Amino acid sequence: MSEDKKGLKLYDNLDLSKSKNEDELLGVYKDWASLYDKDNDDLLGTVSQPNTVQIFHEYIKGSKLKIIDVGCGTGLVGLELQKLGFSNFDGIDISQEMINIAQGRGYSSLFLGNLNKSLPLESISYDAALCVGVFTHGHVGPERFSELVRIVKPEGIICFTINEDVYESYGFDIAIKRLESINVWKVLDIRKHDYMVKKNVKGIYCVVKVT
Ligand SMILES: C[S@@+](CC[C@H](N)C(=O)[O-])C[C@H]1O[C@@H](n2cnc3c(N)ncnc32)[C@H](O)[C@@H]1O
Repeated sequence: MSEDKKGLKLYDNLDLSKSKNEDELLGVYKDWASLYDKDNDDLLGTVSQPNTVQIFHEYIKGSKLKIIDVGCGTGLVGLELQKLGFSNFDGIDISQEMINIAQGRGYSSLFLGNLNKSLPLESISYDAALCVGVFTHGHVGPERFSELVRIVKPEGIICFTINEDVYESYGFDIAIKRLESINVWKVLDIRKHDYMVKKNVKGIYCVVKVT
């Protein structure tokens, strides 16, 4: 394995049982941050950022609405939001190295925070949340949907992706339906769509409205 593939290799090998090991996850992104954008394009063919923002834009038109990008990473979602005219968005991520690269990509504020714990964000403070590439192998499970719901206003929109590999095995499918059945949110859209095209992995793209 060449040195410059180390971060991606570690990412590929994560599993959720170890995700509670925050140090391991932080190490992956510390090693990968500087090459993340290039690997996304060249090795993974990741299209989740533009795809998510396009879908989000079908439901959210107000460019001034206050948006939070949870697990913002290097800010690729922010770049897509800017392209579609959004101008009021913050980002939060567990990795300082990833956040450092997101600086200058349109975010009003960038915060350090862990979605597996309580995020350092006020309750009901955002009109919408995006969460792209975070519900995946070894990162965050469906039990943390509650934290996204906490920070978004009633009637607000949450738009997130789930790697198809973990959609059923981690219980995302059941959790999404359950939260609708107990009136936490209304599902507006679920579709399977290209996610990492060079790895032939699809993503489940969901849009929900908080009730
Ligand atoms: C695959 S990257 C996606 C980054 C960005 N959203 C994108 O689409 O390019 C996953 C991101 O989630 C962050 N992350 C992983 N676990 C997290 C957690 N528990 N809380 C907050 N961020 C987390 C990682 O640091 C990383 O930046």
